[in-house]
Amino acid sequence: MTTILGIETSCDETSAAVLSGSGDVVRLDSLVILSQDVHRVFGGVVPELASRAHLTSIVPVAERALADAGIPLGSIDAVAVTSGPGLVGALLVGVSFGKAVAMGAGAALVGVHHMEGHLFATSLEHPDAVPPFTALLVSGGHTLLIDVEAWGAYRMLGGTRDDAAGEAFDKVAKLLGLPYPGGRHIERLAAESNLEEARKFRFTKPMVRGDQQLGDPDYFDVSFSGLKTAVLHAVRGSDNLERDARGIARAFQDALIGSLVEKTARAVQTYDRKRVVLGGGVACNRALAAAMRERLDSSGVSVYAPMPRLATDNAAMSARAGLFHFERGQRDSLGLNAFASLPIPGMVG
Ligand code: KG4
Ligand code: ZN
Repeated sequence: MTTILGIETSCDETSAAVLSGSGDVVRLDSLVILSQDVHRVFGGVVPELASRAHLTSIVPVAERALADAGIPLGSIDAVAVTSGPGLVGALLVGVSFGKAVAMGAGAALVGVHHMEGHLFATSLEHPDAVPPFTALLVSGGHTLLIDVEAWGAYRMLGGTRDDAAGEAFDKVAKLLGLPYPGGRHIERLAAESNLEEARKFRFTKPMVRGDQQLGDPDYFDVSFSGLKTAVLHAVRGSDNLERDARGIARAFQDALIGSLVEKTARAVQTYDRKRVVLGGGVACNRALAAAMRERLDSSGVSVYAPMPRLATDNAAMSARAGLFHFERGQRDSLGLNAFASLPIPGMVG
């Protein structure tokens, strides 16, 4: 059995977690997530402020994670830290801290890919969310459709050509005068819309056409910038945005989700998978999981969505991905660096 301290500082969450176990049998002993509120004032993440906030909070956050787990630092076998992709200054805080802790505790150092962490996150809550499965990772910075044959054996099927799904939610929220980050505000507004309001606006599902075939470059890809422009026109054309905002939010969300569901269903069918695993901040959206289930239930496909703490950035996922690589023998040196972009290990296609 291995005990791992996970650290995640790639964006605007300072997080530490303790996880123990072996193979797919793991227990999350603690998870601490400190969200940086400062960025709300600016309507987006300010990298320099993120780094400074990580610096202030990383030590108490890690101490709390160890205390919650009731585990002394000396019992840690490995420190798993997100080394990319993300904001380099923010990542460097976690990487430097991780090195120091690993050295001080006499533990191994394991650098982890942030998006591979998201692939593992849902399995911490749903033990059946293990390979083989189709993964849809949707966050503020990424939109990835991946076939997961086994842990460490990934095939990239598609992604966004422009805005990430969460970014589209945030931009549309801004157009509707909602706070940042806007995803959950759009979800709430959309849920409040009545049938009439929901029908008043209708946007086409981006990049979904019946004549697309496997092998076409747009078969699995998505695109949200056109949808965002359509929302902009609807907002400008409205003489009463307070009245229309609910309907616009609903129509936007329906179109975006419709596109994601269609592309995911194509991936499921192509690789004959029986499980779909959602991850990333947009996986908090209940309408997304509901639409995915509605579409795939009848073909006997299970859809797993993580709880919000595991959907958004967190160190439990870094610890879990770190455990996998630790067990495969990965040991990083104190020369481990932070990278703004980084290929997912084990990815083909
Ligand atoms: O994974 P995450 O916490 O951070 C990134 O790595 O980006 O994702 C944050 C994104 C934001 O764009 C936020 O608006 C979106 O997730 N989000 C949602 C919901 N909750 C968070 N989008 C739609 N519906 C939600 N309920
Ligand atoms: Zn993320």
